[in-house]
Amino acid sequence: MKLIRGNTLAAVILGSLSLLSFVVGFSANAEQPTISGQQIKAEQISQAPQDQVLKGDAVCTDCHDKKDDPKIFTIGKTKHGTRADGRTPTCTTCHGESDAHVKKPRRAGVDRKFGKGAQTPAKVRSETCLGCHAGAERMFWSSGKHESQDVSCDSCHQVHNNGHDKVREKKTQADVCTSCHKKQRIQMHKPSRHPIVEGKVTCSDCHNPHGSAGATNLARDTVNDTCYKCHAEKRGPFIWNHQPVTENCSLCHDPHGTTNANLLKLRSPFLCQQCHEPNSHRGDAPIMAEVGQYSTRILFARGCVNCHTTIHGSNNPADDTHGRTLRH
Ligand code: HEC
Ligand code: HEC
Ligand code: HEC
Ligand code: HEC
Ligand code: HEC
Ligand code: HEC
Ligand code: HEC
Ligand code: HEC
Ligand code: HEC
Ligand code: HEC
Repeated sequence: MKLIRGNTLAAVILGSLSLLSFVVGFSANAEQPTISGQQIKAEQISQAPQDQVLKGDAVCTDCHDKKDDPKIFTIGKTKHGTRADGRTPTCTTCHGESDAHVKKPRRAGVDRKFGKGAQTPAKVRSETCLGCHAGAERMFWSSGKHESQDVSCDSCHQVHNNGHDKVREKKTQADVCTSCHKKQRIQMHKPSRHPIVEGKVTCSDCHNPHGSAGATNLARDTVNDTCYKCHAEKRGPFIWNHQPVTENCSLCHDPHGTTNANLLKLRSPFLCQQCHEPNSHRGDAPIMAEVGQYSTRILFARGCVNCHTTIHGSNNPADDTHGRTLRH
C-alpha cells in the first residue's frame, strides 16, 4: 500500500507540473489561449483513471494499480479476465460498488471481502459467485455439508493468486482440502494409499466438493459407482458374487489410506471374520483341519485370500465348489 501513497504523491507532483506548464504556456502564448487550453484538456484526459485489466475496473485500479499489488492484476490472465466475454465480472461485481471505500479507503473496507479472515459472512460471499455459477456442478451446493458449515467458495478457490487456483490443480488440491481435513491428511500418507500425493488421483475424483445427491459428497450416487469409475472390472458381472462387494466397497477398504496392504481396513483373517464365523470353516480344506489348538487353526487360516483368490466375484461357470466359494 506504500505505493498508493507514492502514487498520490506522484499525482500531486504531476498536477502541480501541469499547473506550472499551464501558467508557463499561458504566459508564453498569450495570444492563443485556446491551444494551451486544449493541451490541458488532453493532459487531464490522459490522467483520468483508465481500465487496466477488466472492463470498468478503473474505479479501483486508479489506486490498486500494478505497482500496488501485481498479484491482483493476474486475474486478467484467468477466465475472469476474458474481456470479450460479456459475462466477465469486474472488480465491483465481486467486491461491490464500495463507495465508502473508494472515497475513504483507510476508513472503510470494501462491501464484500474474500479470503481467510474476511468479515463478510460466508453466505454472502458464496452468493456473489453463485450469481454466475449456480446450477450444473453446484446443483446440490445449498444442501451440502460445506455450505451448512460456512465453508464458502473462496475457502477453496483463489481468483487472483497469479492465475493459480490451487484447488483445481491436481498436485496441490489435497493441500487445500487437508488444511481442514486433518484425518485424511494423515491417511493419504499411510503405506497403502491412492496415489494422491503424486497428483495421479485427487480428492475430487471421488468427491464433488460442491455437494452431491449421494452421501458424503461423493462424485457418483453410491460408493461403488464412484469406485467403478476407475475399477470397472470389479463391477462384474460375475456368476458368483460376494455379497459385501456388491453392497459397498468401503466395508473392506478405506479409500483414503490404511496400514494394511490393498487399502484394507483390517488384515485377513480378521477382516473376513467380522462376518464369517472363525471356527466353522466348512468342508475338507486341508489346512483347516483340526490340528490342535485354536491358535494354530487361526495361523493356518490366516491367508484366507490365498485360497479365496476371487474375492470380488468369480466367473467359474458350472463349478460351484470353486466358483461359488470364490476360489477361481
Ligand atoms: C483512493 C484509493 C483507493 C480506491 C479508489 C480503492 N481502494 Fe481499495 N484500498 C485502498 C487502500 C489505501 C487500502 C488499504 C486500506 C488499509 O490497509 O487500511 C485498500 C484496501 C483494499 C482491500 C483490502 C481489504 C480491505 O477491505 O481492507 C480491498 C479488497 C480493496 N481495497 C478493493 C478495492 C476495490 C474493489 C476498489 C474499487 C471498488 C477499491 N479497492 C478502490 C485504496 C483504494
Ligand atoms: C459476473 C459473473 C461471474 C462472477 C460473479 C463470478 N464468476 Fe467465475 N466465471 C465467470 C465466467 C464467465 C467464467 C468463464 C466460464 C467459462 O469459460 O465457461 C468463470 C470461470 C470460473 C472458474 C473456472 C475457471 C477456469 O479456468 O476454468 C472458476 C473456478 C470460477 N469462475 C470461480 C468463481 C468464484 C470463486 C467466484 C466468486 C468469488 C466467481 N467465479 C464469480 C463469471 C463469473
Ligand atoms: C471444498 C472446496 C471447494 C469449494 C467450497 C468450492 N469449490 Fe469450486 N471447485 C473445487 C474443486 C476441487 C474444483 C475442480 C473440480 C474438478 O476438477 O473436478 C472446483 C471447480 C469449480 C469450477 C470450475 C469447474 C466447474 O464446475 O464449472 C467452478 C466454476 C467452481 N468450482 C465454482 C465454485 C463456486 C461458485 C463455489 C461456491 C458456491 C465453489 N466453487 C466452492 C473445490 C471447491
Ligand atoms: C471473481 C470475483 C473477483 C473479482 C472479479 C475481483 N476480485 Fe478481488 N478478490 C476476490 C477474492 C475471492 C479474493 C480473495 C483472495 C483470492 O481469491 O485471491 C480477493 C482479494 C482481493 C484483494 C485483497 C488481497 C489481500 O491480500 O487481501 C484486493 C485488494 C482485491 N481483491 C482487489 C480487486 C481488484 C482491484 C479487482 C479488479 C481488478 C478485483 N479484486 C476483482 C474476488 C474477486
Ligand atoms: C475451510 C475448511 C474446509 C476445506 C478447505 C474443505 N473442507 Fe470439506 N468439510 C469442511 C467442514 C467444516 C465439513 C463438515 C463437517 C465434517 O463433516 O467434517 C466438511 C465436510 C466434507 C465432507 C463430508 C461431507 C458429508 O456429507 O459428510 C467431504 C467428503 C469433504 N468435506 C471433502 C472435501 C474436499 C474434497 C475438499 C477439497 C476439495 C474439502 N473438503 C475442503 C471443511 C472444509
Ligand atoms: C478413491 C476415492 C476417494 C478419494 C480419492 C478420496 N475420498 Fe474421501 N471418501 C471416499 C468414500 C468412499 C467416502 C465414504 C466412506 C464411507 O462411507 O465409509 C469418503 C469420505 C470422506 C469424508 C467423510 C468421512 C470422514 O471420514 O470424515 C471426508 C471428510 C473425505 N472423504 C475427505 C476426503 C479428502 C480431503 C480427500 C483428498 C485428500 C479424499 N476424501 C479423497 C472416497 C474417496
Ligand atoms: C480416479 C480413479 C480412481 C478411483 C475413482 C478409485 N481408484 Fe482405486 N486406484 C486408482 C489408482 C490409480 C490406483 C493405483 C494403482 C497402482 O498403483 O497400480 C488405485 C488403487 C486401488 C487399490 C489398491 C491399493 C494398493 O495398496 O495397492 C484399492 C484397494 C483401490 N484402489 C480401491 C478403490 C476403492 C474402494 C475406490 C472407491 C471408493 C477406488 N479405488 C476409486 C484409481 C482410482
Ligand atoms: C469383502 C471384502 C472386500 C470388499 C467388500 C471389496 N474388496 Fe477389494 N479387496 C479385498 C481384498 C481381501 C483384497 C486383496 C486381494 C489379494 O490380496 O489378493 C482386495 C483388493 C482390491 C484391489 C487391489 C487388487 C486388485 O484386485 O486389483 C482393488 C483395486 C479393489 N480391491 C477394489 C475394490 C472395489 C472397487 C470394491 C467395491 C466394488 C471392493 N474392492 C470391495 C476385499 C474386498
Ligand atoms: C461385511 C461382511 C463380510 C466380509 C467382511 C466378508 N464376507 Fe464373505 N460373505 C459375506 C456374505 C453376506 C456372504 C454370502 C453368504 C451367503 O450367501 O450365505 C459371503 C460369502 C462368502 C463366500 C462364499 C460362500 C458361499 O458358500 O457362497 C466366501 C468363500 C467368502 N464369503 C469369503 C470371504 C473372505 C475370504 C473374506 C475376507 C477376505 C470375506 N468373505 C469377507 C459377508 C462378508
Ligand atoms: C487352504 C485353503 C483355504 C483357506 C486358507 C481358507 N479357505 Fe475357506 N474354503 C476353502 C475351500 C476348499 C472351501 C470349500 C469347501 C467345500 O465346499 O466343501 C472353502 C469354503 C469357505 C466358505 C464357504 C463355506 C462355509 O464354510 O460357509 C467360507 C465362508 C470360507 N471358506 C471362508 C474362509 C475364511 C474367512 C478364511 C480365512 C479365515 C478361509 N476361508 C480360509 C479353502 C480355504
